Amino acid sequence: MNWLEFRNVSKQFSGHLAVDDASFSAQEGEIICLVGPSGCGKTTALRMIAGFETPTSGEIWLGGHEVSTLPAHKRNIGITFQNYALFPHMTVAANVGFGLRMRKFGREESRAKVAAALAMVRLDGLDARYPSQLSGGQQQRVALARAIVIEPVMLLLDEPLSNLDAMLREEMRVEIKEIQSRLKITTVFVTHDQEEALTISDRIAVMQAGQVVQEGTPVEVFERPQHSFVASFIGQSNLLRGVAAAEVDGHVGMRTHSGIDLHGRPIKPIEPGTPALAVIRHSRVRVEKPDSPDSDGSDKAGPNVFSGRVELINYLGDSVQYVCSLGDAERIIATVAIANAADIALAAGDDVRISWPAGDCLVVADASMPDQDDD
Ligand SMILES: Nc1ncnc2c1ncn2[C@@H]1O[C@H](COP(=O)(O)OP(=O)(O)OP(=O)(O)O)[C@@H](O)[C@H]1O
Ligand SMILES: [Mg+2]
Repeated sequence: MNWLEFRNVSKQFSGHLAVDDASFSAQEGEIICLVGPSGCGKTTALRMIAGFETPTSGEIWLGGHEVSTLPAHKRNIGITFQNYALFPHMTVAANVGFGLRMRKFGREESRAKVAAALAMVRLDGLDARYPSQLSGGQQQRVALARAIVIEPVMLLLDEPLSNLDAMLREEMRVEIKEIQSRLKITTVFVTHDQEEALTISDRIAVMQAGQVVQEGTPVEVFERPQHSFVASFIGQSNLLRGVAAAEVDGHVGMRTHSGIDLHGRPIKPIEPGTPALAVIRHSRVRVEKPDSPDSDGSDKAGPNVFSGRVELINYLGDSVQYVCSLGDAERIIATVAIANAADIALAAGDDVRISWPAGDCLVVADASMPDQDDD
């Protein structure tokens, strides 16, 4: 049995179903990310695990015990809130020690535990400061120290990195992962950032409109998305909408609404005539001059080879993004790794050949909500 079981849980607020028959699980010591767009129910799910909300239906199990209606203070869970929620009138040390005072730890023992927690998040020496005297990243770490100091049985982190700049965000991501694996503590990490979810987690549950539309390892979710929403939400991809056509050479055919015929790899069998979405990662698209030599022996007249034009070039440092038009209505982005700017072979306005392997073009049924018969 999994250490965390969130089983068919729903939460109805007055007139609004915030979490809708959602299920996910994690083994002991794992870190699971809840990922999904704003308002999809991530915080509500977390608050039910913490015990701040009671499920309308369904069950929550932690470590082999059902806790669905157990009060929050009996769960011994460490939580950081989306807005940190530090007490502004308390010093760093008092903020971190708050949960220990509630649990009636002695003064000396508390002091030692607070010092250890602050050292763990590398905030030693800042214990006498107030939250207003800290940077956003430091406040975030105080919140983390406050969550771990009580030696919780599990950690719930609600968008813990969302207010940090890109560099600090990456540093803290590594730090949290290190602390989490050192403490071997089962963790639920909420984010709306799919890249963060892919890098930090052992498992990912993708949420949409209160439902978990797919749960799996980062590799499963990234490489085998089961729904058009997951395919479009996870990864930097081109999305072409149209209608599925007959199978050709083991690939599914598809005609886009703009009239482009392509071949792709169906994630699940898809009936001809069904609304379909083709998903092609930016990194899998090839763009070259129309007369460029055939470097990989691919069939230039084969499927998924098109004429287009470079409209815009975005220089990203170690890669370059070619934004191309394809036909009258489609836009295709290709991201190409470069060693230096001299590798940028194309210019805006160039006519180009655009292609991608059929095996790298996922074709999924284009439904905004999951199928009922799935998984
Ligand atoms: N106490 C409440 N009463 C009524 N509706 C609520 C309550 N809490 C949340 N909701 C609604 O439930 C839905 C899910 O909210 P939730 O905070 O779980 O989303 P979220 O996925 O965490 O979003 P975000 O990424 O913006 O933080 C939203 O539509 C929200 O307005
Ligand atoms: Mg939230």
